[in-house]
Amino acid sequence: MTAPARSLVHDRLATLADATRCRLLLAVDGRELTVGELCQALQLPQSTVSRHLRVLADADWTMSRAEGASRWYTLSALLDEHARDLWTLVRASVEVTPAALQDLARIEAVVADRRARSEAFFADAAGEWETTRTSLYGARSDLAATLALLDPRWIVGDLGCGTGVLSAALAPVVRRVVAVDASPAMLEAARARTTAFENVDVREGTLEALPLDDASLDVAVLMLVLHHVAEPLRVLREVRRVLRPGGRILVCDMRAHEREEYRAMMGHVWLGFDETVMQEWCVQAGFTNVRYLPLPVDTSVSGPAMFVLTAEADAIDEVILPGANRWRVQQ
Ligand SMILES: C[S@@+](CC[C@H](N)C(=O)[O-])C[C@H]1O[C@@H](n2cnc3c(N)ncnc32)[C@H](O)[C@@H]1O
Repeated sequence: MTAPARSLVHDRLATLADATRCRLLLAVDGRELTVGELCQALQLPQSTVSRHLRVLADADWTMSRAEGASRWYTLSALLDEHARDLWTLVRASVEVTPAALQDLARIEAVVADRRARSEAFFADAAGEWETTRTSLYGARSDLAATLALLDPRWIVGDLGCGTGVLSAALAPVVRRVVAVDASPAMLEAARARTTAFENVDVREGTLEALPLDDASLDVAVLMLVLHHVAEPLRVLREVRRVLRPGGRILVCDMRAHEREEYRAMMGHVWLGFDETVMQEWCVQAGFTNVRYLPLPVDTSVSGPAMFVLTAEADAIDEVILPGANRWRVQQ
């Protein structure tokens, strides 16, 4: 460890050889404060605070950042080892002085005042908060943000991707999205929507014979698709094939309903699915830990109530039986 040049040590000592600068440095150690807040906390005129802050900044003891009309000051994060040691020593003597203890009490009041401003807003705005939130940040920005919890290493299949709404939402947070659909018109829209994402692979294909290798997905999503397929169990088996053991399926669809007109209006093959049938099919298709959750009913929409199902792909061994037929046996 090389000692700093003599003049640097003297400069540093000179900067700290002032009680006001030490109080300021103590105030911004571990927190950010504005000049106004520092004036309030240390009960000093703005000219005094600004003058000393300039000295501290010139000597690289503090750093600051602008935010709108405010500037926030804090102890520099780039102090070298010697400066840090020197400040630790000085701090130990300064922080126990009556002036520093009073400063600290007033800093806590300043910070509490910031909190109070936000609390006062919410006390008044509780009734309108959701409207304000939607107009500022969008209807469900919370759910978009929650997608960041997904594992960034995952390859996700958006099976029956339609116009690619979900693929576009998933692309920024996972390794790759394979979007599959049988409809050329839907695929064209999906390609247009996901063109900015290099990790979205849009493929034409059916859910009954997915254009995917065995065990090539970590997660498969069937979003509002299952009620359209002719043989759901067959599709679930095919999805199991393309998932790695331990991979997960997510099915979101309608709960069993009685709206016969949907068959003619929208080509629905099935009038939703209840828990018993989904549990049964998933187990038969080679899934375990099946969880069927009814989604909260949204009173502002006209469609039937929905469910979401998650399940885990069971371990499957592939064996070659006499006659060279390939069979899969579930363990
Ligand atoms: C109701 S849309 C849902 C699209 C999308 N998942 C969403 O949430 O917006 C159903 C999609 O599944 C596709 N689809 C239906 N049956 C299919 C099958 N057997 N194979 C591949 N795609 C299918 C349709 O072409 C359509 O794009």
